[in-house]
Amino acid sequence: MDHKNKFYVTTPIYYVNAKPHLGSLYSTLLADAAARWHALQGEKVFFMTGTDEYGQKIAQAAHKADKEPQEFVDSFLDSFKDLWHAYNINYTFFARTTSKHHIKAVQDWLKKLIEKGEIYKSFYTAWYCVHCEAYLTDKEAENQRNGIPLCPTCGRETQQVSEESYFFRLSAYQDRLLEFYKNCPDFITPSERLHEVVRFVESGLKDLSISRTTLSWGIPFPDDEMHVTYVWAEALNIYITSVGYGDPHRKDEFEFWWPADLQVMGKDIVRFHAVYWPAFLMASGLALPKKLLVHGWIKIGEQKMSKSLGNAIDPHLLRETYGTDPVRYYLIRYMAITHDSPFSSGDLENRINSDLADDLGNLLNRVLILAQKNNVMHIEKFENLELSEIDLRDLFWSCLEVFEYDMSDYFFHRAYANLWAFLKNLNHYLHVQEPWKKSAKSDPEKLKRVISAACHGLYAVAVLLWPVMPQTMEKLAECLGLTIPLENNIIEQLKSEPWHREFNLTVCPPLFEKYGVEEREGIVIPKETLQPEKITTEEKIIPTISIDVFNQVELVVGTIEQVEDIAKSDKLYVLQVNFGVRGFRQICSGIKKHFAKEDLLGKQGIFVFNLAPRKMIGYESNGMMLLAESEDGTLKMSTIDGIVTNGTRLR
Ligand code: MSP
Repeated sequence: MDHKNKFYVTTPIYYVNAKPHLGSLYSTLLADAAARWHALQGEKVFFMTGTDEYGQKIAQAAHKADKEPQEFVDSFLDSFKDLWHAYNINYTFFARTTSKHHIKAVQDWLKKLIEKGEIYKSFYTAWYCVHCEAYLTDKEAENQRNGIPLCPTCGRETQQVSEESYFFRLSAYQDRLLEFYKNCPDFITPSERLHEVVRFVESGLKDLSISRTTLSWGIPFPDDEMHVTYVWAEALNIYITSVGYGDPHRKDEFEFWWPADLQVMGKDIVRFHAVYWPAFLMASGLALPKKLLVHGWIKIGEQKMSKSLGNAIDPHLLRETYGTDPVRYYLIRYMAITHDSPFSSGDLENRINSDLADDLGNLLNRVLILAQKNNVMHIEKFENLELSEIDLRDLFWSCLEVFEYDMSDYFFHRAYANLWAFLKNLNHYLHVQEPWKKSAKSDPEKLKRVISAACHGLYAVAVLLWPVMPQTMEKLAECLGLTIPLENNIIEQLKSEPWHREFNLTVCPPLFEKYGVEEREGIVIPKETLQPEKITTEEKIIPTISIDVFNQVELVVGTIEQVEDIAKSDKLYVLQVNFGVRGFRQICSGIKKHFAKEDLLGKQGIFVFNLAPRKMIGYESNGMMLLAESEDGTLKMSTIDGIVTNGTRLR
């Protein structure tokens, strides 16, 4: 079988103790974009995702919910599948660690390693973080609070585990692992992460405890039912069991797909994938994955976004507000895989408006309207290109070269920034050619040539953007009378095709909507009337306003998550306010004399959301809290009767 033309990509399998959030979506989207990028190159793609259903963390959550673990994990399954479908995630296989095949394959795998002496039974005492399902090294356990070591990843208190256990001989793999990293410096993208892994392995590996006796929610150890398998020791194997490992009838399938070409994950789980997983594979005599793509975290303010921190953004709400493809685009282009990236809905709106609606949507629109007005909806082939057309095409070819280079490392953010530079050039080309001017109309061939060049550029952009915005780019291609075929290597075609296509154009509705423009423009209400500092008990004569004017003020519900003093001010607090899907905002408020911090923390209030930002003693304030002054001169917060979702707009 031909091994060269395939691409096997995996996401981490998600813990099913809560519904997926934007962070879970991010890992999955990166894998989807990578899968689609390879599909464009005519490769056969297998894209695996799934759920991680065993372990102490899940057992505890099920207990808290008063449910049997199996019933508990089943109840979350649809929330994952629904979200992937809503975001057009084109996975091939959804794997579950509680599936019969996975359980049997893991038990057979354990048996083999026990027989080979790679696994042995002994006694274990260590510190364990239930949240991360991870043991601490001796060094990590040195960081303590009140004598209890804190988890280096999530900062929670750990607990001491002391029991009989099966061990995997991880220590025996230290040198082989280091040798492997040395020979495969491209094993991890971005490469800085590999250095961290090397440092960790060099500091010394101990054998890994891979079974528990104090837990029943796990895969039973073969021939020793007192023990269940440590969740990571079985979960990592999902990557091989998903393509048939352990099933004698699926040997060819396994040989075809394994090793994985790309494994996507967040930086918090790189150690499991870059140290334990290769060691397990080496012990099993199996090939190692070709590449790990390790991304940073999506942050809200200074914190990682996570369910347990209560700052998670619901991706469904985001999609309902902004649409699937714009959210996909924003996450893939603007959350740089190399760093942690803050999420902000304001930034998302700006990018949709400028990149998508202006640079791309508007360009297509202008070309189509131009063709329609001049009645040239069919654009024939031009065999001999003019100089300006050749220049534009050559610009695209050099853009494609850099694009491919960045994509070979899955640096999506760079690749798409580079594509945008070409898109700007395309806009510039049209601007310089001025086809809407009379002279072009009097020269119909020139007009068609300009439209043809713009359409070639637009089609090329649509193809390269398809991994990120598949539905919208298919629509774009359709407006040009084309499709985005996957059978052949369309990227190779784009590299060699001399821009000799013909186009059959159709005018379509705008590809992207603009956001927030109406609300942001022309705030007519004088700012002074809305500033808390100016509130007095004196009667002020304020003119009546129309409902349209009132509608220009965005009043939004938010929860105060953080309150800080400003050293130089006895009046101001700096608040961090959670507006749910609209993100976090810093808002300064002159209320220090009226409220203790505890009185504000966790409270839901009403805020003017579209007030122009301003600096207060050097701190930027992005909104204003609504307050009322009582008879005795103290201020009271405006609140909502009951709790509503943060980010809800008042009407
Ligand atoms: N079950 C393990 C993975 C086992 S793989 C054999 C696990 N699950 S998880 O649900 O906690 O995390 C899954 C993925 O979501 C990880 O790649 C993690 O980095 C990612 N994210 C969770 N929160 C995140 C952000 N705030 N930002 C970006 N991704 C983050 O770990």
